[in-house]
Amino acid sequence: MRAVSIDDVMYEIFGPLSQGAPGNDASTLRALDAVPCRDTLRRVLDLGAGHGRTTFALARALPDARITAVEIHEPFVERIAERARTSGLAHGVHAVCGDMAKIDVAAGSVDLIWAEGSIYVVGMEQALVMGRPWLRPGGCLAFRDFVRWTGDLSEEARAFWAVEYPDTASEAEIRSRAEAAGYRVVRNFRMPRNAHEAYYAPLEARMAELAGSADAEILNAHEDIRTEIDIVRRYREEAGYTFFILQREGSRARIAGDNGPGSVGWAASR
Ligand SMILES: C[S@@+](CC[C@H](N)C(=O)[O-])C[C@H]1O[C@@H](n2cnc3c(N)ncnc32)[C@H](O)[C@@H]1O
Repeated sequence: MRAVSIDDVMYEIFGPLSQGAPGNDASTLRALDAVPCRDTLRRVLDLGAGHGRTTFALARALPDARITAVEIHEPFVERIAERARTSGLAHGVHAVCGDMAKIDVAAGSVDLIWAEGSIYVVGMEQALVMGRPWLRPGGCLAFRDFVRWTGDLSEEARAFWAVEYPDTASEAEIRSRAEAAGYRVVRNFRMPRNAHEAYYAPLEARMAELAGSADAEILNAHEDIRTEIDIVRRYREEAGYTFFILQREGSRARIAGDNGPGSVGWAASR
């Protein structure tokens, strides 16, 4: 019998949902509008694209761009590819099954990296380092992360996040990390409550459906997710998701290889 991994459990829970993280198209487009020269963007990477909500929001807003959606879970990749075909966006959306930490991207070949709800996969500091050489000079990295909005969290929230997301930082700390890694912070904004609930409300309904599951792993995950939803809602003034739009600093002359349009090369995948 095949062993059931935590990933299997997560995909069983999240598979039927329409998104895998907090966010909505209004917040995605607000962040996109902050990207300098957004109408000239042509080569976009959407890392950890999941169900493809962000991929298609970007594809509709940037009809001349090629959005490469990188996702490790094959059924999600197939879903994105199928939706691209049926929605007439196949020319602009390219779905790749792979590990974002192992993909092979030509230096200076990307105008915009998008990482909504996926920066945690490699860790923020590592993601800042990893993505910078992929960007052309002046290219941007947009991501959103769970952030401490007030100086100190309440004891219950602090104890929960210390276990669930020990990398939780303040906006000022993240701005400093970005600047130290060679980016200019173009803008950051806190995602509004409705963008959080666009994820948590359907997830809560999904957990109610799974409450009677006979699977012990599902029930464990059920408990963790219900606790997270409860903590996020009760302490919503203290912490939540903030979007950051960063621009790569540095002149064109400093880039080792600028390979021009369409040069993203995908070598490694799972
Ligand atoms: C929290 S979800 C966010 C999905 C989507 N960006 C959204 O906002 O709805 C994170 C996604 O990253 C994917 N993922 C996890 N590890 C990955 C990796 N190493 N490479 C690529 N994708 C990965 C997961 O399968 C999942 O779909």
